[in-house]
Amino acid sequence: MKIAPNKLDVEDLEVQNFVKFKSKKRKLTGKQSVSQLISHAENASNPNAKFENPDLNILSKLGFLDELICGIKTGKEASVFLGRNSDGLVAVKMYTDLRVRSFRRDASYREGRFIGDARMEKAIKQGSEAGLDAHQILWVQEEFRQMQHLDGHGVVVPKAIAVQGISLVMEFIGDEHGNPAPRISDLKMERDEAQEAFRQSVRNLALIVGSGRVHGDYSTFNILWHNGKAVVIDFPQVLEFKHNPNARAFLERDIRSLCKSFQKQGVQAVEANVLREIRTA
Ligand SMILES: Nc1ncnc2c1ncn2[C@@H]1O[C@H](COP(=O)(O)OP(=O)(O)O)[C@@H](O)[C@H]1O
Ligand SMILES: [Mg+2]
Repeated sequence: MKIAPNKLDVEDLEVQNFVKFKSKKRKLTGKQSVSQLISHAENASNPNAKFENPDLNILSKLGFLDELICGIKTGKEASVFLGRNSDGLVAVKMYTDLRVRSFRRDASYREGRFIGDARMEKAIKQGSEAGLDAHQILWVQEEFRQMQHLDGHGVVVPKAIAVQGISLVMEFIGDEHGNPAPRISDLKMERDEAQEAFRQSVRNLALIVGSGRVHGDYSTFNILWHNGKAVVIDFPQVLEFKHNPNARAFLERDIRSLCKSFQKQGVQAVEANVLREIRTA
């Protein structure tokens, strides 16, 4: 499997991406379909390009994406597509332009997040155009980086493969025919299975916390169930205890939503027990 850059390269890439991104004259992009994203040779400016979307073309040149097959899920903030490269199927998460999406997850998540450039930090705070671009890139880079971090700490997550602009390529969680694994929230599980899914979800949560992070949106809506394994997804809002004074409150909220969402599966999920398990892990 091709895995993109080590930590240092990622930081380099981040700077390069940002420069490229800033210099592009962009149209606003909201939800896009596969047919809008792939290149139609008859009207493409570059008939050799596979995609209309510049991020996808770069990913394709680098060998991370050969084909976009179909949409998996379109949301307000991001769309996830099924794609393929020479290693097999991949999932491609593409963010909706920040200017057309809501700021659902914002200031308190980002508090204390390292930006490293005072001017940029100011621009982001002021919500200027350059600030929005920076904000957007950071958001996606952050998801990629956090996925690698959590993977390195044993949390069951899709492997992060590559990131470019506001598109992220990751391991596809699903079968070989391209059917994506369901979210636990989509299932009505049998008692034993639900219990096992909860056990694994608590273990993943303990590993996340043990690695110094809070997921920030942890519930059965962001946990896939694949071949008896709970796979955690959706990381742009992950925060770090070290930097974010609100982390503790977000963790409490994660525990609450995890328990509530598992109670719907018939599991006797008790917040205090989860907290105890995390502490003793
Ligand atoms: N790696 C993946 N493999 C298969 N399906 C995925 C993968 N990542 C995301 N999905 C699907 O796409 C949906 C949206 O992805 P998610 O990262 O949760 O974004 P958001 O909730 O912000 O739209 C998920 O609920 C899941 O159904
Ligand atoms: Mg989600």
